Amino acid sequence: MDVQNDVGLTAYLVNESRARRKNLAADPLASEWIADDQRGAVRDLWDEFAETVYPHDDLVVSLRARIILDTLSQALDKRGDTVLVVCGAGFSSYPWLLPFAAAMEVDLPHIVAAKRRRAAELRAAGVLDQREVEHVAADLNDPQARQHLLNRIRQFAAGRPVAYVAEGLIFYLPPDEARAVVGLGVSVGPESLTVVSYWPLAAADHPVLAAQRRWFRRRSVPEDATYLTTGDLSAIVGDRVDNHSPEDLQRRYLGEVVVPETELIPEHVAVAGQL
Ligand SMILES: C[S@@+](CC[C@H](N)C(=O)[O-])C[C@H]1O[C@@H](n2cnc3c(N)ncnc32)[C@H](O)[C@@H]1O
Repeated sequence: MDVQNDVGLTAYLVNESRARRKNLAADPLASEWIADDQRGAVRDLWDEFAETVYPHDDLVVSLRARIILDTLSQALDKRGDTVLVVCGAGFSSYPWLLPFAAAMEVDLPHIVAAKRRRAAELRAAGVLDQREVEHVAADLNDPQARQHLLNRIRQFAAGRPVAYVAEGLIFYLPPDEARAVVGLGVSVGPESLTVVSYWPLAAADHPVLAAQRRWFRRRSVPEDATYLTTGDLSAIVGDRVDNHSPEDLQRRYLGEVVVPETELIPEHVAVAGQL
């Protein structure tokens, strides 16, 4: 498994962020996804990001993971037959943290290969249980691949409700592709919940994002980003959205705002639809 210099690198970075705040993220599996012989390189990458860009990725990523986990858990309480679909899944753990009827994870081919390999190792070691998770390799920037994926999700869901997650992904896609990926969940059918994280348009000039662009440039991660508003998201999903800012999430899970949003990558989490 190689930590390549491309957008896939961000999957390793945010996994390390959750591994550093396992309790806040409520993800005891976070530290398992990267094998021991790679964890050192991933920690070094994280430390360099913290020094060069900002030191709070663990906070924001763990908060977003926590609200997503809680939202999914509530959906499952309502509909136990819910099927989970996660786009840009990276090394997140939702299919193993919650008892979904079925789960599908989608990512770029090299990340899917790494995830599949590690999941098999962790199953063999008894760290993961035996549940089947469908791993799908697809470039979500490719309209044909998205159409193919949509057909596959419909077949997979087989009429059951779908909880659809795109976490830490949308901003890396060009505007039209980002919008199409936000809308994938509602395209599956009427019974769907959509949970996406995004960068608000109002934050486009944020100084931390400028520092991140410089860091990305050196690591061949695309710098251009898509920013959205809650109005854009509502229009795409055809419903109102509940919006959670990093400050809202700190109040909810930490009882206070420990780091103001001016010092954070302003990643918000939007939730739309009900099961
Ligand atoms: C910041 S990581 C987030 C990973 C995971 N959702 C999490 O929160 O830990 C972004 C993920 O999006 C994936 N990704 C980026 N562009 C993609 C594309 N065009 N098609 C599919 N996946 C993509 C990356 O490979 C990476 O795993």
